[in-house]
Amino acid sequence: MVARAQGLRAANDAANPNDLAAWWMPFTANRAFKARPRMITRAKDMHYYTPEGRAILDGSAGLWCCNAGHNRDRIVKAIQDQAADLDFAPSFQYGHPTGFTVASRIAELAPGDLNHVFFCNSGSEAADTALKIAIAHGYLTGQGQRTRLIGRERGYHGVGFGGISVGGIVSNRKFFGSLLAGADHLPHTYNRAEQAFSRGEPEWGAHLADELERIVALHDASTIAAVMVEPMAGSTGVLPPPKGYLKRLRQICDKHGLLLIFDEVITGFGRTGFAFAAERYGVVPDMITFAKGVTSGAVPMAGVIVREGIYDAFMKGPEHVIELFHGYTYSGHPLACAAALATLDTYRDERLFERVNGMEESWADAMFTLQGLPNVLDIRTLGLVGAIDLASRPDAVGQRGFEAMERAFHDHGLMFRVTGDTLALSPPFIVTEDQVGEIVDKVAKVIRAVA
Ligand SMILES: Cc1ncc(COP(=O)(O)O)c(C=O)c1O
Repeated sequence: MVARAQGLRAANDAANPNDLAAWWMPFTANRAFKARPRMITRAKDMHYYTPEGRAILDGSAGLWCCNAGHNRDRIVKAIQDQAADLDFAPSFQYGHPTGFTVASRIAELAPGDLNHVFFCNSGSEAADTALKIAIAHGYLTGQGQRTRLIGRERGYHGVGFGGISVGGIVSNRKFFGSLLAGADHLPHTYNRAEQAFSRGEPEWGAHLADELERIVALHDASTIAAVMVEPMAGSTGVLPPPKGYLKRLRQICDKHGLLLIFDEVITGFGRTGFAFAAERYGVVPDMITFAKGVTSGAVPMAGVIVREGIYDAFMKGPEHVIELFHGYTYSGHPLACAAALATLDTYRDERLFERVNGMEESWADAMFTLQGLPNVLDIRTLGLVGAIDLASRPDAVGQRGFEAMERAFHDHGLMFRVTGDTLALSPPFIVTEDQVGEIVDKVAKVIRAVA
């Protein structure tokens, strides 16, 4: 046993480990990966590199997170300097200056009176934190019976019990028992017959927000704490919101006193051409969850941005008493804060959100050149995001998508995400027009290869 452990350690020290058994990889087909690994050892700007030095064009900003591109000097240096100065400081009852600066900078970017930031380390933690704040807010404001949480079919809010209960992806839910009691779901907003090949927000579907009225009628508003949605559902294959849908959700939430939470883990920090999708859609939610792009993926960081009135509801009672019994050891970790500050400076100085905005049309033009290729059932675009639905092979849902991902990596030097048979693209914001062309050429080759 000891010998095996030592052997594993020795093997895993090498750039090319010869024993891949120990790491049970997340959201991965482990056996297929270990039979034919897609290994990455280095990254710079728009590219990953394999151990053999082969360049892989990053069509997905890693996992939707490396928005500023990879290993940017400014971000790397900020992390290195911070590590040399302050490795860790508790954020329970103590603080460090960079955390406060980052919180202020994020609050400045958020719309309306979304002025307070609670730090977490992952989008999943942020989702569960927001849901807990919503329920606790009810308790503190004399509405302790408001405990129900409403999500949406095909929604993804990470993998905590709160997130999967409110989320609507069956594979993420079905193995894990009865989940949180009291969650209910809006219908998802995708309808291929009505929306296929829409650029940006589809015309059809705003009325689906009215389903919230049905849910309220069923449970009574007095039992519901919050409604949580992604402004654009990302992980279930990129579903831009129908025109007017989010405004309608806001109106119905206001009418019934429900808190509205936008999960902006993917859409936050520029992906739709605005700091937050809330700004793009002219809707101020009561809370925004964020992660990923806040540090351009360089160090784990996430959080919840909260409106003034919600924060104020907690800031009562004796001053020596903790107001919210919730937090993570690594909330506001110094390395994450340093990475966030350098990332936000990079977004600002290189005008990267504006760059996304300016590229939206040409990006969509490029993506839509794939229309008409074999098995392409739909293409959707929004900001610097695109998705292509491929027809599933008979009795093998997801196989064509999986093969597309493998071929893209091994044969064409391209990374993208797949969900079932949907290919999702979301490159870093520094992508050039030439690289957009390269991405689309490679995707076309892959689509033909898996026909
Ligand atoms: C909208 C949304 N919420 C939450 C999460 C979960 O984030 P994490 O994987 O950091 O827990 C994700 C991850 O992709 C996401 O897209």
